[in-house]
Amino acid sequence: MTSTVMQCPEDAFAADVTVGLTATRKSIPPKYFYDTLGSRLFEAICSLPEYYLTRCEASILERYSTDILGHCDSDICIVELGSGSSVKTRYLLNAASQTEFRTSYCPVDISEAILNETCRQLGSDFPSIDTRGIVADYTTGLEMIRRPGNARLLVLFLGSNIGNYDPTQAKELLTAIRARLLPGDYLLLGADLKKSSEVLNAAYDDPVGVTAAFNRNLLRRINVQFEANFDLRAFAHKAFYNGDKGRVEMHLVSRKKQTVDLKKLELTVQFAEGESIHTENSWKFDMDQLSGLAKAAGYSRVTSWFDKNGYFSTNLWAAA
Ligand code: AVJ
Repeated sequence: MTSTVMQCPEDAFAADVTVGLTATRKSIPPKYFYDTLGSRLFEAICSLPEYYLTRCEASILERYSTDILGHCDSDICIVELGSGSSVKTRYLLNAASQTEFRTSYCPVDISEAILNETCRQLGSDFPSIDTRGIVADYTTGLEMIRRPGNARLLVLFLGSNIGNYDPTQAKELLTAIRARLLPGDYLLLGADLKKSSEVLNAAYDDPVGVTAAFNRNLLRRINVQFEANFDLRAFAHKAFYNGDKGRVEMHLVSRKKQTVDLKKLELTVQFAEGESIHTENSWKFDMDQLSGLAKAAGYSRVTSWFDKNGYFSTNLWAAA
């Protein structure tokens, strides 16, 4: 239950914010949502009735964890990229702790507070599983993967986190994961599927406003970190399914013409009324796209599991 700190450097955030806010079409990468408050707001999103993703994936893992682990009948090291609170992973850990094989668990997350909390809990709930957290983003986390003995690696990339990457980047990231694997290792990939825009829009624009708070928290974080003066009330949360592109987009739209100062970055940014900061894409998939991705990134597809509505997919890919 130790954890290693490998924070994404503050100057990377500074550089990304500077580039993003000085571009013609303003944007900020979604990985910066996840400071401590942002990670907690995301946890709250996961319990919204409209945000079906977490519940669908949990139902799949609850039902099929034993099947999934049946494919790797040896000692395993479960590495999870973007583990958050590891709630859904408990189904897998539970199934793993009931096998004759040794299991270790290595959650990787950029929120140190959540990771420490999680590692402590898991340490006491699963004493037979050696849990070591790594505070890092995906790239750094991947570099830090160490295989204990000759255990198999089972990399978890759940929650449709892959949806934050456009198709080209997704292929690159999956290829980078593949490069850390040996034959006999697996990737378990959670991917949200294409569906009606009504269901998708509701999932990303909930009536309680939790997702809006999650989105605006990015500006609060920038205010704190860079002594900026974003007026959070002067930006509207906008989220919608862009069916042509096959992705949900989130934006923060300036409600008026305004100027924002980011003191520490020595940056002044002008906003026209209606101008947006594009904060996230959540790509949605169909099974053909997922097969294509698996192949392009050097995996062979083993099995896919679905929830009862067919909203979400959990895909086991082998490093063949
Ligand atoms: C954690 C990236 C999978 O895209 O659905 C939730 C983040 N954004 N509500 C997603 C998110 C708005 C989430 N991922």
